[in-house]
Amino acid sequence: MDKATYETTKYIKGPMHQALRHDSAHKHVAGSAEYIDDIPEPAGLLHGALGMADRAHAEILSIDLSAVKSYPGVVCVLTSDDITGVNDISSGGRHDEPLFATDKIEFHGQTIFAVIAETRDAARKAARLAKVDYRDLPFWTDIDGALENGAPLVTPGMTLKRGTPETELDKTEHRLKGTMRIGGQEHFYLESHIALAIPGEDDEVTVWSSTQHPSEVQHIVGHVLDIPSNAVTVNTRRMGGGFGGKETQSNQFAALAALAAKKLKRAVKFRPDRDEDMSVTGKRHDFKMDFDVAFDGVGRIHAIDANFAARCGYSSDLSGPVTDRALFHADSSYFYPHVKLTSQPLKTHTVSNTAYRGFGGPQGMLGAERVIEEIAYALGKDPLAVRKANFYGEKGSGRDVTPYHQQVADNIILRVVEELETAVDYQARRHAIMDFNRTSPVIKKGIALTPVKFGISFTMTAFNQAGALVHVYQDGSIHLNHGGTEMGQGLYTKVAQVVADCFQVDVDTVKITATTTAKVPNTSATAASSGSDLNGMAAFDAARQIKERLIAFAAEKYAVPASEVEFLPNQVRVGREIFSFGDFVKQAYFARVQLSAAGFYKTPKIHWDRAAGRGTPFYYYAYGAACSEVSIDTLTGEYLMDRTDILHDVGKSLNPAIDIGQIEGGFVQGMGWLTTEELWWDGKGRLRTHAPSTYKVPLASDRPKIFNTKLVPWSENTEPTIGRSKAVGEPPFMLAISVLEALSMAVASVADYRHCPKLDAPATPERVLMAVERLKRA
Ligand code: MTE
Ligand code: HPA
Ligand code: CA
Repeated sequence: MDKATYETTKYIKGPMHQALRHDSAHKHVAGSAEYIDDIPEPAGLLHGALGMADRAHAEILSIDLSAVKSYPGVVCVLTSDDITGVNDISSGGRHDEPLFATDKIEFHGQTIFAVIAETRDAARKAARLAKVDYRDLPFWTDIDGALENGAPLVTPGMTLKRGTPETELDKTEHRLKGTMRIGGQEHFYLESHIALAIPGEDDEVTVWSSTQHPSEVQHIVGHVLDIPSNAVTVNTRRMGGGFGGKETQSNQFAALAALAAKKLKRAVKFRPDRDEDMSVTGKRHDFKMDFDVAFDGVGRIHAIDANFAARCGYSSDLSGPVTDRALFHADSSYFYPHVKLTSQPLKTHTVSNTAYRGFGGPQGMLGAERVIEEIAYALGKDPLAVRKANFYGEKGSGRDVTPYHQQVADNIILRVVEELETAVDYQARRHAIMDFNRTSPVIKKGIALTPVKFGISFTMTAFNQAGALVHVYQDGSIHLNHGGTEMGQGLYTKVAQVVADCFQVDVDTVKITATTTAKVPNTSATAASSGSDLNGMAAFDAARQIKERLIAFAAEKYAVPASEVEFLPNQVRVGREIFSFGDFVKQAYFARVQLSAAGFYKTPKIHWDRAAGRGTPFYYYAYGAACSEVSIDTLTGEYLMDRTDILHDVGKSLNPAIDIGQIEGGFVQGMGWLTTEELWWDGKGRLRTHAPSTYKVPLASDRPKIFNTKLVPWSENTEPTIGRSKAVGEPPFMLAISVLEALSMAVASVADYRHCPKLDAPATPERVLMAVERLKRA
């Protein structure tokens, strides 16, 4: 038979690089995607509610829970006395986060007890009836308060250093000092935290948790209950968004549900409402950056010294790696010949801050972009020209080493920025905007084009590993499991495409199954944008092993060389014979070929010595650029996003449809961080912005009126990642810095661009108006 005659289909559906819809997109729209609260409830299910402190910092003198216990429907009240293991839910084993506060309260809303009742309503109402006597202690909730009070660090800070900034700062033509304040951010995932626990026989318990980190939930449940990890199974089919907010913050709810379930021998669910979720879970860290920079007449930086102080909340959680990543990105895309960067992870009496898309990177980059802006205004130059003067050079140029001594070996930032600059006609539009501003009395416009360079890998080298499990059943259908979790980012779809591609079967042949600690152990959080890099490779490894066994089997059975066994679309050719994939697999089964494999991957090349501040923490960088244009009303401070154009690098995209969705979503989320989303704690240490009524996430109507997103068409990862793709989850978030800078230019126009507006983030309409007033007086 001739090859042309047997090829029934030329291509499979859903290979790598195809723009395929998210596997659950239609289910999200129809409401049929199953979230934990949709799982049919087990008989006898009980509901939990948190008993929360109403002090920011206090000693607990006494607790009277009698009214709580006697409330109708209450089955039991849990306190630290009920813990069979350790009263600790801290990530990374630092023992600084109790599940229940015992003698000391360290933030408003901290959990003191939990009520378990027949209904959720009863549990919630009863939780408010506790009588707690406190002795108030002094507290501070923000960075200034922490600095004034000499607050301790929740974890040691880091220093990155190269050259001799202390002497070079004095030597250069120009020198500037400044400060920028950068706000925090609530994750506002649509599905709030939730955990459902079902007790099993002996020490066993199964937990459904909305978590990005099932293995850590498994570990924490074991730790709190004093049972080994092999007794705990954690399942996560999908989250209704995580964004970093479910990397460690799910521990509390899962531990409470499991503890209650084992004690009462009944299924227990914890589902805080939005206000509670926002009050008791950590957020993005806000930062205060102080800098001292020296530069020449073209704006080229010669030396910089910058400190990044962060509001960490009461415990360490992920504040160490978050503030580290801020320093790793405090160079943005710029080469600093002489540099010193320090971090100060400050303790505050607020909920412990945590991971959030970008993980400190956005704050570090925003600080760097402010420095560029200040230099540009000081020299009367276009910030884009100052950016270009400072970009990292080509590999080997002598301007290619970061403050952490990693060589930037894959630099494409200048090309990406210049392609976008030309495509959007930046120069002409900037001039037209300046003309417009000269004649428009109230409405002023601004435009800015900013770069993104984001380091990919967990800086904790050990986390850069992943596992997968692939089964091929006798009918040719494939079962896929891996350690990554799905939170809307399309990871499951991408990894299914990898497996479909490997076997050359339609992607519908691959059943994507819920993440569970029972199938793939010791996984890392799905975080650091590395989900598809790590799990895609692990799944490929598993599929490849099965494929190799199938090839060896067929070569032997049909006495052909291995090169004569070919996986065609949904078929396998062995010499001159063609079989459907299903028939071929059945033959292999009867020949006793193992049709299941566990795959594994660990990222090569990376290493990091934190104490020395040296190493290669990142496998590669993802790049991008965005150009945003805005209009502000100088009488009210209100503004509109007129247009944004994005050119973003995802290497050779695994799925362009999903990647464009990630870029648009990341940009809009970043825009919310920098414009309307403001967290506010009152004088009692209470978070007062704990619902959409007071906390303003962007609406669909807030997106840029013209919004164009393109993938860099020529990019391929220079490293052998899965399909030569690049991570996409976090980097696009930082494209939104273009919005803040465009607002800044519009504000600057009221004083003829002679002063840097020093717009802090978020640039709420109030802050824009205040900056306009400040500049008018200047
Ligand atoms: N996209 C959606 N829809 N929902 C999310 O929760 N989280 C982001 C990003 N994109 C998120 C998302 C964050 S914080 C990360 S680290 C990555 O997705 C994680 O997934 P990945 O590593 O598979 O890209
Ligand atoms: N992002 C980046 N780096 C990280 C993360 C994250 O969410 N978690 C741990 N390291
Ligand atoms: Ca949160």
